[in-house]
Amino acid sequence: MKNYAALLLLGLAPLLSLAGPEEDREAFVEYYQARFPDVPFAEFANGIYAIDEDARRQWQDIEEFPPYEFAIEQGESLWHETMPDEAKLADCFAQPVADIRPAYPRFDAGRGEVVTLALAINHCRQAHRLPALPYDSDELISITAYLAYAARGKPVATRVPADEPGALAAYEDGKRFYYSKRGQLNFACADCHVTSVGLHVRADRLSASLGHTTHFPVYRSKLGAVISLHQRFFGCVRDVRAKPFALQSKEFRNLEYFLSYMGNGLEFNGPGARK
Ligand code: HEC
Repeated sequence: MKNYAALLLLGLAPLLSLAGPEEDREAFVEYYQARFPDVPFAEFANGIYAIDEDARRQWQDIEEFPPYEFAIEQGESLWHETMPDEAKLADCFAQPVADIRPAYPRFDAGRGEVVTLALAINHCRQAHRLPALPYDSDELISITAYLAYAARGKPVATRVPADEPGALAAYEDGKRFYYSKRGQLNFACADCHVTSVGLHVRADRLSASLGHTTHFPVYRSKLGAVISLHQRFFGCVRDVRAKPFALQSKEFRNLEYFLSYMGNGLEFNGPGARK
């Protein structure tokens, strides 16, 4: 039996090594579509609301008076503030404001690492003689809320350039993180958000990871605050009783890169609202 399994693995190995990000993404989408044949692809941008009718109705009520609006407004005024040398944040970005969020996460060949939107904002501040903002600060999160809002309706189009080996390595690292078991509970992200998608965990139903990055930052009614994607990663890692990584650590940026790529073709719809 064991030998048979080993043979099977050997037989599959060449096939698996051929799979690149695009094959991974297609398989990811196919899995969820087979699991939820009545849910249109675009709906996966709405997380649990794509697959839970009750939660969806509550959400539609909440969205009548969006609880994240204050964050968008605060972010917009911070976006227009001048820095000590009179420059504005917009000066650091080549794109019009609606295209900034979709340009991240990206692999920066010069730096040899994945740069997320939050990181890019801090790089800009530092280049203009301001200290980096903490990654859990209201200021930084509200700037990302403003940029998320400006990008609503734009497609997710994460790139892993084939001629950039560092990009593929970062993607693979994020993918490995996603499928690795960790913590005292010995759970991988995929154990909950792929294998058990749609099932209940205590008071929650598990959302699909397809679309996990489209709507951040997110207002959490449980916390009464707007949180970043990495704060959510942090919470999910802590919940399996593993040691979480720092917000914007290389591990979490690579994980974001992988998940963002999986969501290619969905629309940005942030900021979001969740329990
Ligand atoms: C023990 C089960 C479990 C594991 C393992 C787990 N999560 Fe979660 N996660 C949840 C629950 C429960 C929620 C809240 C309900 C939902 O939206 O799925 C959640 C929510 C999320 C959300 C927010 C979804 C949204 O629509 O805003 C993201 C993103 C996320 N998890 C990513 C991850 C990642 C990445 C990992 C691996 C590091 C992971 N999770 C591991 C249970 C888990």
